Amino acid sequence: MTPFSLFKRKGKPFNSAAPKVVTLVLMAVVEMGKEGKKAKELEDLPGVGETTAEKLRAAGYDSMEKIATSSPHELEEAAGIGVETAKKTISAARDALEMGYESADNVLERRKTIGRITTGSKELDGLIGGGVETQSITEAFGKYSSGKTQLGFQLAVNVQKPKEQGGLEGGVLFVDSESTFRPERIKQLAEAAGMDADKVLKNIQIAKAVNSDHQILLIDKAEELIKEHNIRLIIVDSLTSHFRADYVGRAALSERQQKLNKHIHALQRLADSHNLAIYVTNQVMDNPGILFGDPTTPIGGHVLAHAATYRLYFRKGKEEKRVARLVDSPSMPEGECVFRVTSEGLKD
Ligand SMILES: Nc1ncnc2c1ncn2[C@@H]1O[C@H](COP(=O)(O)OP(=O)(O)OP(=O)(O)O)[C@@H](O)[C@H]1O
Ligand SMILES: [Mg+2]
Repeated sequence: MTPFSLFKRKGKPFNSAAPKVVTLVLMAVVEMGKEGKKAKELEDLPGVGETTAEKLRAAGYDSMEKIATSSPHELEEAAGIGVETAKKTISAARDALEMGYESADNVLERRKTIGRITTGSKELDGLIGGGVETQSITEAFGKYSSGKTQLGFQLAVNVQKPKEQGGLEGGVLFVDSESTFRPERIKQLAEAAGMDADKVLKNIQIAKAVNSDHQILLIDKAEELIKEHNIRLIIVDSLTSHFRADYVGRAALSERQQKLNKHIHALQRLADSHNLAIYVTNQVMDNPGILFGDPTTPIGGHVLAHAATYRLYFRKGKEEKRVARLVDSPSMPEGECVFRVTSEGLKD
């Protein structure tokens, strides 16, 4: 029954303005009623009426889980819900699933245990507050040869070092989606650092992702492996390329963003529950709309922009030189630094 049907008499609706006012009040009451109790259906969520629920379902947001793991902008795009309302909708969906609640003292305790992995460059470490940190997602985006994969290799070696040398004495899970993992390069980096190359290679678990669904599965099933091999760093190189290839065109955009969003959340959960670091790489696409400055934008849109704690933009300079810029960090000032990619690894 819609609120309007209350005002129909013998099938005829009123014509005056009064019913509209009463309707608005009634709708507000309905919305208020929604706030107190846990939502079961999409229609129980604040900001979601019948029409909106239909639009959401049509766009693939057909369950509480999907709403709970979406972003306000996605809902705005899918069903025309205003961003502020969408925030409430998402928050209510999360409540309904009882996700996301934790007391602040717990969070503080957990944050005290954050570890850091050196990149090999003091400049680059400084830019992100002292190295790649656990419980966070660090993303590097940039064009080909900008050093994204090289930083991944370097971290895979460095995380195995003792704490005094900038490591976490842990193993690595390397999700290789571009077939660019090179054990020979790892060996070269390990030897340059005076480490036992065979041991270093044994401590890196490689998973080759053949498509985006496989990539999602590899992370969803990683729990056992993480415990077994004391994994302290997960690398996904690249995070976005399969998603970009598997979901082509505007129509597939919403599904792609939802899947990517879920995937990123799964990574963040692993980072929190096992106190490990996540390093992901991301390509850029040409953005012909920008006339001045660098006409490239990272793939993954706002989904990734919101999830990554540290976003680094890498640019190739002359020869070994690379320029890193920190963008959109919640805790560090924006800034730039120069580092080098050498045969011995990342240096200042
Ligand atoms: N053994 C090595 N010695 C010195 N420099 C190397 C070595 N291996 C790779 N490099 C440098 O790293 C560059 C490749 O960087 P990297 O593979 O990190 O690029 P990327 O940002 O991952 O690019 P893509 O988007 O193509 O994956 C090479 O162009 C080279 O300059
Ligand atoms: Mg690469």
